[in-house]
Amino acid sequence: MNVHDSERISGLLEDAGYVRAGEDDDADLVVFNTCAIRENADNKLYGNLSHLAPVKSQRPGMQIAVGGCLAQKDKDTVIAKAPWVDVVFGTHNIGSLPALLDRARHNEEAQVEILDSLERFPSTLPAKRDSAYSGWVSVSVGCNNTCTFCIVPSLRGKEVDRRPGDVLAEVRALVDQGVVEVTLLGQNVNAYGMSFADPDQPRNRGAFAELLRACGDIEGLERVRFTSPHPAEFTDDVIEAMAETPNVCPQLHMPLQSGSDRILKAMRRSYRQTRFLGILDKVRAAMPHAAITTDIIVGFPGETEEDFQATLDVVERARFSSAFTFQYSPRPGTPAATMPDQVPADVVGERYQRLIALQERICLSENESLTGTEVELLVVADEGRKSAETRRMTGRARDGRLVHFAPGDTAGIRPGDVIHTVVTAAAPHHLIADAGVLSHRRTRAGDAHEQSRTPTTAPVGVGLGLPTIGPPVPTPATAAAPASAGCGSCG
Ligand code: 5AD
Ligand code: SF4
Repeated sequence: MNVHDSERISGLLEDAGYVRAGEDDDADLVVFNTCAIRENADNKLYGNLSHLAPVKSQRPGMQIAVGGCLAQKDKDTVIAKAPWVDVVFGTHNIGSLPALLDRARHNEEAQVEILDSLERFPSTLPAKRDSAYSGWVSVSVGCNNTCTFCIVPSLRGKEVDRRPGDVLAEVRALVDQGVVEVTLLGQNVNAYGMSFADPDQPRNRGAFAELLRACGDIEGLERVRFTSPHPAEFTDDVIEAMAETPNVCPQLHMPLQSGSDRILKAMRRSYRQTRFLGILDKVRAAMPHAAITTDIIVGFPGETEEDFQATLDVVERARFSSAFTFQYSPRPGTPAATMPDQVPADVVGERYQRLIALQERICLSENESLTGTEVELLVVADEGRKSAETRRMTGRARDGRLVHFAPGDTAGIRPGDVIHTVVTAAAPHHLIADAGVLSHRRTRAGDAHEQSRTPTTAPVGVGLGLPTIGPPVPTPATAAAPASAGCGSCG
């Protein structure tokens, strides 16, 4: 979500006349799009700002803007801690950034604008996409759940869903520009359909499954993914739509958070261990080769060794192809932050190591089971250092796995193209395919990547029926460098 917001910020700034700064250029504008989901993401910002203070003092006219979840959380504190910042904008008013920059320049005074609710659906803003072959498309923003550890609802607000027609129009706009892979984005995609911004759009519990099926009809769209579902609301119609729609990838990110029913209850996550494992069984019955990934938190307040064993037990049985594991981080204002029995850091650290060791073993054995199989890869640009060291290239399999492959004699393979190869070896976090390429298909995405063309999407869809701030007066071409600090979303 955060990365995609950065694409919107880039698109807005380009529309306002800014030009992206080169890697080695000194930027006239630096924008931090921040994350506050865990404390370490939070702490990063102030370190980065301190590094920029001397740069700014050497460069008259340079501007620094801070947006995203941490800005929404810290508000005026950002300026109090780093008075050299020019603009602070929240998660609900990304669209105001160019106007705020102008105002800060004109008034020679820092501008802080944090709104309590969404001003414009971000998709009604232009976007400058990072990739020629893969694109994010938001289906919703915000979250109506109340997981007790999570700061997202207080910073991103209540869920607002986009009309299916608008989502599909944006997907088509990307595919028209060569994109072959789309990831539908929402904090809780299974709730999609119950909170449409448009009051005339009928509420529809089956809306997400219908959206997946509609993506299946888009000519040229080869891979559809989504993130993230929520185990409590994950319904069979979505599994059926996944299994029956050929371009929907056999991949599912299903956040577990904890394997202990007692801890899930304290987290206010309404599914239990049995239901979670039942979902995985159903998914695998419908899609035997689906790769299932997860998020797990270790050391939630009150977690006992027995609770943690329950997590290890689920992990052992679930056979996730990979897991994002986090040490519990108290977030201000969340119920869990003030719960008794916070788990000491050394206990959390020790459990965390045990969880990682188990999951690494599972990752490796799941990956090893793929040795000898044929995979279709969408070639990607420079993901993983492995490729540079060994002259291998890298691609993503349909199930989302990263595969480093040797191109052999096949010339002219470009990021964005599609190849077939055979897996020859496995590591916990990637596969190797060293026996050469079985087939290579040049794609329009590959052409676009080769010509350094990335898609832009014009504003799609209706706003929220709220007054909008008018388009900013274009400023003279100014170099801008977006910087992303932090991570993505959850479910
Ligand atoms: N502490 C640790 N991990 C957290 N996550 C969300 N909030 C916290 C927190 N307070 C994790 C969850 C979520 C992922 C994006 O981040 O596992 O799914
Ligand atoms: Fe919503 Fe996900 Fe946070 Fe729960 S963890 S409140 S589902 S964003």
